[in-house]
Amino acid sequence: MMEKEAYTVMSKVFAHRGFSGQYPENTLLAFRKAIEAGCDGIELDVHLSKDGIPVVIHDERIDRTTDGTGEIRNYTAEELRRFDAGAIMPGRFAFEPIPTLEEYFTLVKDSSIVTNIELKNGVFRYEGMEEKVIQMIHNYHLEDRIIFSSFNHESIALCRQLIPEIRCGFLYDCWLLHSGTYAKTNGVQYLHPSFYSLNDQVIEEVHREGIGLNVWTVNNESVMRYLAQKQVHGLITNYPDLCRRIVDSLA
Ligand code: G3P
Ligand code: MG
Repeated sequence: MMEKEAYTVMSKVFAHRGFSGQYPENTLLAFRKAIEAGCDGIELDVHLSKDGIPVVIHDERIDRTTDGTGEIRNYTAEELRRFDAGAIMPGRFAFEPIPTLEEYFTLVKDSSIVTNIELKNGVFRYEGMEEKVIQMIHNYHLEDRIIFSSFNHESIALCRQLIPEIRCGFLYDCWLLHSGTYAKTNGVQYLHPSFYSLNDQVIEEVHREGIGLNVWTVNNESVMRYLAQKQVHGLITNYPDLCRRIVDSLA
């Protein structure tokens, strides 16, 4: 039998949009199922409704993931509730509304789940979004169980300024030069690269700078194993059940 490799730091399993491999993404159902599957954390996407309420959904439009059409920013949170986010998997699930961030916080507030809030403000800026989300985090006392991320690094810089105690990561899906130095210089704790923008050298350089890696979207078993063996901080996956088994098998 082959000996297990030395393995000291266990990677955290983050459910990407909840347990989105089997349940409608970014719904309370997908979040509950991710927790049941044993994830350590949940990644979700946030936009602002017309009336300035943080809502959990991936795209700028509701067309792909619900039975409705149009842009999120043109509907109030109350209007958005009419659309069925279960419709992305037709005929399989009962009605599932687009959750507000507050409903999600109610679900996880008494658990140990860490939430990676991805601010989806790269296309529409949603002025004031950071302040609204931060206020809600304060209301639920979740400051130490949140990681902010965004492809909009200006927004992450603003979060750092508004609330330095919350951990942050830069999202990207390209081969950045000196990514560890970039993260360190800008005061964030994590980088959030796509799994295909990494190799041994990049991982080692980032770790040398004291920066953690939360890698997405890791659905392939051998990639999960490779990254867990490299002791990246987090694996963001659509299959938290499989990822849990793999990470645990290396412990
Ligand atoms: O946060 C990781 C990942 O979710 C980034 O891309 O498009 O799935 O939100 P996307
Ligand atoms: Mg995301």
